[in-house]
Amino acid sequence: MFTRMDSSTAEEWQHITEQHMPHIQDMPKRVISMLEQLSELTLGFGTDQLHHALQTATMARRAGADDEMILISLIHDIGKVVNVLNHGQIVAEIVKPYVSDDAYHILRTHQDFQGEHYYQYMGKPQDLRKQYTSEAWYPKAIEFTDKWDQAAFDPSYQTDSLASFEPLINTFFTMPRAL
Ligand SMILES: [Fe+2]
Repeated sequence: MFTRMDSSTAEEWQHITEQHMPHIQDMPKRVISMLEQLSELTLGFGTDQLHHALQTATMARRAGADDEMILISLIHDIGKVVNVLNHGQIVAEIVKPYVSDDAYHILRTHQDFQGEHYYQYMGKPQDLRKQYTSEAWYPKAIEFTDKWDQAAFDPSYQTDSLASFEPLINTFFTMPRAL
């Protein structure tokens, strides 16, 4: 195996590419691990962040949302495991190879949509979502934020289990859309 890239060969890169596949296909385990880590974050809310994720996804599922919307609802805050400040951008980039462009943008911008419901208490404009009104995914982002994300902080809500969402996680994250 090469010791510096400028002396590498096609055969070596073939081998490296093959060795990456099990790791790429192991993405569901990493997503589940990040969701489990959300249980360690409460951050002053009335529920921990795993409950919030499960409530958001359960509400979307019970409302008959499509699979990718349920997935968005489940994973939208996993970026908080790394940093809350830019968690929307973090999760969007983590899942980008595995989801639609619409899902990527909804995840990337979801804090701007959520701000309508509380940014007046943070000294920030509440209408940040307006900059996206011409985007094709805007109605889906509104539905996600207003019907489910902002309404999913009830500790007495009986959520479906994380295990019940594992088939969905496996469907989306076992194989990227493009390598
Ligand atoms: Fe959220």
